[in-house]
Amino acid sequence: MARKASESGSVNLKGIASHVGSQIFDKELILENLNLLIEISTHLTKQGHNLRYLDLGGGFGISYQEEKELKIDEVLTEIISILEPLNLNLILEPGRSISGNAGVLLSKVEYLKKTPDLNFAVIDSGMNDFLRPSLYQAWHDISVVETKDKKELFYKVVGPVCESGDTFGEERLLSLDENSILAIHDAGAYGHAMSSNYNSRLKSSEILIEDEEIKVIRRRETFDDLLRQERDV
Ligand SMILES: Cc1ncc(COP(=O)(O)O)c(C=O)c1O
Repeated sequence: MARKASESGSVNLKGIASHVGSQIFDKELILENLNLLIEISTHLTKQGHNLRYLDLGGGFGISYQEEKELKIDEVLTEIISILEPLNLNLILEPGRSISGNAGVLLSKVEYLKKTPDLNFAVIDSGMNDFLRPSLYQAWHDISVVETKDKKELFYKVVGPVCESGDTFGEERLLSLDENSILAIHDAGAYGHAMSSNYNSRLKSSEILIEDEEIKVIRRRETFDDLLRQERDV
């Protein structure tokens, strides 16, 4: 590819990039990737390419349950000390590790349903609002915002969308009544960005809390928003 680029006369190869995956907790994996990129860039430099950038991608893991997070400053110190002697600029693409733990999805319990086998808590958020649990069975902590004087029970927490995958958590020990507010934790990354209008559901608002200040940074959608792109035929 590099040879084709230089032979084309119109593509100037300036850097190489990688993204080896998400939720990486092993520093050695990141360093192994770095060393591999350096090896490739050294090879390309010898072939006459003038490389200036190495892009290591993102993937720094965050804790959803009890995963041990990387000490990013330590990892970066090591990366920089390896790169320093080389004349290359470092590019990183962290996503989740910036915002993942900073967000919660707040949702109201609409209905508590008991069956012989399970207690269901049906909440007013659905898989369209927060897809991770339903899409790849991602585990997110769920807590009650104001604890009620109700007996703790194991609940299956589900959304109102008519899909069997519209589930946020199984066997969650919670003290609930109808109208309880639940917080679904660590929803700050791959949350609103992956939300949709599936089932003609309106997207929620987004609230930023900065120090003591509460700001609406995205208003709740209306049906007019939903219909705006429709055309009469
Ligand atoms: C090319 C690339 N860069 C960066 C990211 C961000 O990854 P993360 O949110 O795990 O830091 C992704 C996510 O898949 C990606 O595909």
